[in-house]
Amino acid sequence: MATLTNKRILLGVTGGIAAYKTPDLVRRLREAGAEVRCVMTRAAREFVTPLTLHAVSDHPVYTDLFGASATRELPTTSTDNAMEHIALARWADVVLIAPASADFLARLVHGRADDLLASLCLAAAGPLAVAPAMNRQMWAQPATQSNLTVLRERGVRILGPGDGSQACGETGSGRMLEPHELTALCAGLFETGELDGLNVLITAGPTWEAIDPVRGITNRSSGKMGYALAAAAAEAGARVTLISGPTALSDPDRVRTLRVTSAQDMHDAVHREISGIHIFIGVAAVADYRPSRIAAHKIKKTGEHLNLEFERTPDILASVAALPHPPFMVGFAAETENLEANARAKLLDKKLDLVAANPVGDAGAGFGDWTEPRAVGQGRPAYGFESDTNRLILLDRTGTTPLPAGTKPALARLLVHEIALRVRAAQSSRRTG
Ligand code: PMT
Repeated sequence: MATLTNKRILLGVTGGIAAYKTPDLVRRLREAGAEVRCVMTRAAREFVTPLTLHAVSDHPVYTDLFGASATRELPTTSTDNAMEHIALARWADVVLIAPASADFLARLVHGRADDLLASLCLAAAGPLAVAPAMNRQMWAQPATQSNLTVLRERGVRILGPGDGSQACGETGSGRMLEPHELTALCAGLFETGELDGLNVLITAGPTWEAIDPVRGITNRSSGKMGYALAAAAAEAGARVTLISGPTALSDPDRVRTLRVTSAQDMHDAVHREISGIHIFIGVAAVADYRPSRIAAHKIKKTGEHLNLEFERTPDILASVAALPHPPFMVGFAAETENLEANARAKLLDKKLDLVAANPVGDAGAGFGDWTEPRAVGQGRPAYGFESDTNRLILLDRTGTTPLPAGTKPALARLLVHEIALRVRAAQSSRRTG
């Protein structure tokens, strides 16, 4: 089956009898993994109701150029300072017009912007595809054919039409392609992602270990590295679940994000989510120790010293690697000294497939050709905890692969690529073995 995992399809429905097939089209696009939002022209609403498309897409249907529902409902990345047609155009990975009437094709050619659908087609930066549907004579008209030539030259993808009997009783060219054919063609509009069809579970951020009702211990992890990895894995076509400790970051786009507090919460959430996971990536800076008991009331200031007793937290990464059929296991190792030796020990001790060694504190000073400046005036290095940039060196059982220093999102994409290479190699050696 075609895969459209994480893809956002804006389905524009124009006035034509083939509009009756659009509920089935929406259902098939969603089964292939896409998120679908529908925009209908006034004429389309004579053939199928917005309520039907709302029910099958699970989202309200947009019809009004001057409405404001999209600006309320879409992710903020799409709606920042945007009007309805701009918000929808920004949201969509592809705009698919099905059925596309002869009139709508003509309006597209002329760049009309007199209703919501025509306006958003002008505003969309991504691919635009049309599935023409009309009577065979209308299809054969030189006007229609020259409109199609213009659209094709502008890069619009023309899907169909098919041949056969038509609703008007005639037989010939002009039928809208069937929903299953349109779904497969839509998948072909996207480059295949490196992690297409894979389930990825990622931990990120710090944990918070309570001491009493108002105090606790935590660390400097901001979550930036883990959130960037979650976004990069989703961009590569994976279904991503992110289990995050307390951070100030917003949930990454297209990622299912679960918030937890302590190491124990994170451990329990990971084990609830682990079934069916192909790749596990532990980026979280999980507390290794927690107070042995949490005081029921705020601890009072009494003597000169306060002693707290700590106990070990569960090792989440090691516990997943110890499962009977573990996923591909990726760990991180934040080290202030002996970067490679410590990271390699974690690779072996925790039975991992890959470790991303991350120099933190002053470790970067002795780390290869690291020359990035420190964050000006902030007194902290521009790698590791909190910073927007980072440096990683990858270790597996065959050797080491240093990644070039860069922003966390750029490094995350490189790391996803390295993981995908290894996972695909393991899958194909299992097939041939
Ligand atoms: O969040 P940022 O500000 O962007 O910073 C990113 C980062 C520096 C936190 C990140 O790049 C990083 O290096 N994360 C690992 C931090 C760490 O504490 O590593 P560790 O050496 O303590 O743990 C090794 C591995 O075991 C890690 O994958 C960790 O998630 C995992 N672990 C550790 C302890 C524990 N109880 N359970 C675990 O799963």
